[in-house]
Amino acid sequence: MSTRATPPDQVTTRSPQPLPWRLDCHVAAGDDAAAADELRRALTARRPWLPARWFYDDAGCDLFVRITDLAEYYQTRTEQALLDQHMDALVRAHGLTELVEIGSGAARKTRAILDAMESAGTLNRFIPFDISPGAVAASAADIASAYPGTRVHGVAGDFSRHLSRIPRRPADGRRMVAFLGGTIGNLDPPRRRTMMRRLARLLRPGDCLLLGTDLAHDPEVLVRAYDDSEGVTAEFNRNIIRHINHAYAGDADPDAFAHVARWNARASRIEMHLRARRDIEWNIAGLGVVVPVEAGSTIRTEISCKFTADSVRAMYEDAGLVLADWHEDPQGRYALSVATRA
Ligand code: SAH
Ligand code: AVI
Repeated sequence: MSTRATPPDQVTTRSPQPLPWRLDCHVAAGDDAAAADELRRALTARRPWLPARWFYDDAGCDLFVRITDLAEYYQTRTEQALLDQHMDALVRAHGLTELVEIGSGAARKTRAILDAMESAGTLNRFIPFDISPGAVAASAADIASAYPGTRVHGVAGDFSRHLSRIPRRPADGRRMVAFLGGTIGNLDPPRRRTMMRRLARLLRPGDCLLLGTDLAHDPEVLVRAYDDSEGVTAEFNRNIIRHINHAYAGDADPDAFAHVARWNARASRIEMHLRARRDIEWNIAGLGVVVPVEAGSTIRTEISCKFTADSVRAMYEDAGLVLADWHEDPQGRYALSVATRA
């Protein structure tokens, strides 16, 4: 509380200014037993793989932003165009007052949603949620200064464990939960199913889910999106080794791995792998494991599943949701859809 220097009989007190944004943090590098267990199990599986969350330290978040600007990575600009085209109508149709964004990252596309809410005069609160505390803090600060008067409540957490920490919405509000970028495709079918059910639990009657899904189409275009000519995606892929080395005192040389992106038609997904250029013994002291990787063998680092209108509809139905809107680009590469509670 502050006081003004005024004559004693006129002392006025001022209410404390509300902070423009806040951050709740449920994750911390290297001290999360559940994350360490999952990583240990993944690396010691018969076919070793890595959970995608390990891409996203600060360097990985920056590399991802560079990916979104690449000519080959059509997903971001296609989704942005769909948001620019359809958000005003969606905001008005659903009377939205708050946006919860899961896997918000740099929250660049978010502005199309917030702008629509602001111009409808209904914008009250923005809740960015991401595994990277740095990304949440930076985007919360940016958004708070760009949209004065909007409450910004950032939550740093793992979306497979901490969605229940998202604050409840006020009874008189209407919430949109956005899960953009095609990130749902980075989960395998069982995890995707659980995730969709958890997302559905964030919705109350009148709320809606906005989901971005990359669609199955020309495999050549898809592979190029994950193996760009500038090598940014390759760097993003190798950065996962750097991040794990840093978090758990590992000793692998990221450059001992080659970037691989391939289309798996049977599973309708792009897979990214790291292929050992020579025999590697990856000693990860903080996890208590040594991972032998023979020259030529690979560690799978990412799946990125590609959908159809039918597979998206089925995913909603399984989660007790109903498809309310479907918008795809003219080339049929990417879709934005909206679902509500059944
Ligand atoms: N929504 C943005 C960013 C997509 S990149 C866009 O569309 O461009 C995927 C985002 O999900 C990253 O910011 C990453 O940090 C976040 N993420 C990945 N795994 C996560 C997890 N398990 N929990 C929470 N956030 C996660
Ligand atoms: C975040 N996610 C949806 C991206 C994707 O396309 O699967 C991550 C990515 N990996 C390589 N390029 C982009």
